[in-house]
Amino acid sequence: MTILLEDLEAEVAKLKQEASSAIAAVDTLASLDELKVTYLGKKSQLSQVSRSMGQLSASDRPRIGALINEAKVAIQEQFERKRQDLQQAQIQTQLASETLDVTMPGVYRPIGRVHPINSTIDRAIDIFVGLGYTVATGPEMETDYYNFEALNTPPDHPARDMQDTFYLPDGNLLRTHTSSVQIRYMEANEPPIRIVAPGRCYRRDEVDATHAAVFHQIEILAIDEGLTFTDLKGTIEIFLEEMFGEELPVRFRASYFPFTEPSAEVDLQWRGRWLEVMGCGMVDPNVLKKVGYDPEVYTGFAAGFGVERIAQVLHQIDDIRRLYASDLRFLRQF
Ligand code: DAH
Repeated sequence: MTILLEDLEAEVAKLKQEASSAIAAVDTLASLDELKVTYLGKKSQLSQVSRSMGQLSASDRPRIGALINEAKVAIQEQFERKRQDLQQAQIQTQLASETLDVTMPGVYRPIGRVHPINSTIDRAIDIFVGLGYTVATGPEMETDYYNFEALNTPPDHPARDMQDTFYLPDGNLLRTHTSSVQIRYMEANEPPIRIVAPGRCYRRDEVDATHAAVFHQIEILAIDEGLTFTDLKGTIEIFLEEMFGEELPVRFRASYFPFTEPSAEVDLQWRGRWLEVMGCGMVDPNVLKKVGYDPEVYTGFAAGFGVERIAQVLHQIDDIRRLYASDLRFLRQF
């Protein structure tokens, strides 16, 4: 079978045309590379045409050779141009996706605030820690023993009344004060002791402007050899002065608590009025005995106060219920 020059010429022209349309249709660099192998690789049709050149007459060969070369160069150039176009397009796409519109409004992040109950607790703790006290805590669900019995509270004491205490079906109760932490801490530790114990308490109080069924207390306990009522007075006076930011008139009024003897209530003069701010006293020897401390060796003092009460005074909050209403108009003031 003889091969005619015209046939090869037509074949080269056809391949050139085909390559051209195929290159135009490609839209990724990967398929462009594949296409290059198809049209310019060793097994390409153009290479096959080159190989069949040998069958032409010597005079025809240079002509078809030049034609094939010219076709290869042209196809090569198209590949290069297409490669640049695709790379350029890729860069443009990437740039577009990474564009940052600096004029767009930012993301609004509301700034939180410390709730006045927490800030009052934090402040009181800071003061006592400064005096060498350690923070202690206890459970909100308590046994009768820790909430009453170990605190020398007799069975007929009104605080044990169903009217005042939330008793749970299993016989436990919700602690009515943080004084229970005194017992738990003394049971687990040896004197000397200096603790400040903040926490939530529960009472079946009628809720009004000054009473809540759930409220917070901070308990103080110091046990050591030779502690006296003078230490108690000095500690409380320093605490109140730091808490209220000025030295206000303070008075200790004789009172009664089952777990302290003697006991006192502390009043603070604030804007011309005497306010009752805490209960305190020397730890009753019966309480020390209950936890295995020798009352002949150790003495101590304790105090407890309501956090809400102090927060109300400090921030002039007229109604305790505002502290639990989660009203942002109120909370944003702090
Ligand atoms: N637990 C008492 C109450 O809830 C407050 C109190 C009084 C605590 C005297 C004390 C204390 O530690 O010594 O009313």
